[in-house]
Amino acid sequence: MSSTEEKNLLLGGLLYPKETHSVESLKFAREFKVKDDDILAVTYPKSGTIWMQEILPLVLNGGDLTPINTIPNWDRVPWLEEKRLEQIVDQLKSPRALVTHFPFNLMPPSFHTSKAKVIYVMRNPKDILVSSYYFHQMATFLDDPGTFDEFIDKFLEGRVLFGKWTDHVKSWRRAKLGDRIMFITYEDMVQDLPASIRRISDFLCCNLSEEVIQNIAKCCSFKKMKTNPLSNFSLVSKEYMNNDKSPFLRKGTTGDWKNHFDSQQLTRFESVIHKELEGEDFSLPWSL
Ligand code: A3P
Repeated sequence: MSSTEEKNLLLGGLLYPKETHSVESLKFAREFKVKDDDILAVTYPKSGTIWMQEILPLVLNGGDLTPINTIPNWDRVPWLEEKRLEQIVDQLKSPRALVTHFPFNLMPPSFHTSKAKVIYVMRNPKDILVSSYYFHQMATFLDDPGTFDEFIDKFLEGRVLFGKWTDHVKSWRRAKLGDRIMFITYEDMVQDLPASIRRISDFLCCNLSEEVIQNIAKCCSFKKMKTNPLSNFSLVSKEYMNNDKSPFLRKGTTGDWKNHFDSQQLTRFESVIHKELEGEDFSLPWSL
């Protein structure tokens, strides 16, 4: 058995880590009853998921710090598809906030008939790839990424968690959700966090004052999250996530890809991504 098969479930063509996902958890997600006032932050892995697990409870609670100071990120805004959801779902207070890495086509049927709102967070795929490469080194429940060059091939071929980045983005950009969906980028959030939080707050009709927005932005900064053990996975045993090898909150910047790709790798990467997005009626918010 290869290391990929040993550590991952392969279902419907997508890979899920066995440590956090099971056939039962995926069935639970499929049968999950999405409520009209639920909020789903949707991300391709390494696009800013835990950042949303910090921002959403603060926005929804008018800036009250209690959730981020008392509940670990994976329980305050749980993953729809992970094993943990079934154990804590009854403790979630409405409006419930969840995160998911599912492409649009895997969302539960109840999502489609609900009015639940979606915040789709997009990130430059080159930075996603770099972030994921380090994540595979620190998370022992994930398979060995191989060399950076090998990992580029895996990423471009979709032999990584949740499949191809282009398929994920296309699925959500093509979804006809009207004003139920808001698109934001990781880069927007890095560049101007208070303005991004304002957009999220307006989208969720939270009506927060400028002072509250500024306070939330301070609490969700990279520096602050790095010191909150309930937000940075330092509570997880080193056996599973070795923050000494590479911290989960690693750099928190844009453009780290420039320190990793050589010119041949860039050409290969860009040509595949451009080809796969050809003919789409949306453009990428950054030049690749
Ligand atoms: P890097 O590895 O580039 O640092 P996810 O939560 O989807 O797995 O994404 C993890 C990435 O989001 C990591 O990127 C992490 O550092 C970054 N991140 C998390 N919180 C952040 C914050 N407050 N500010 C900037 N980046 C953040």
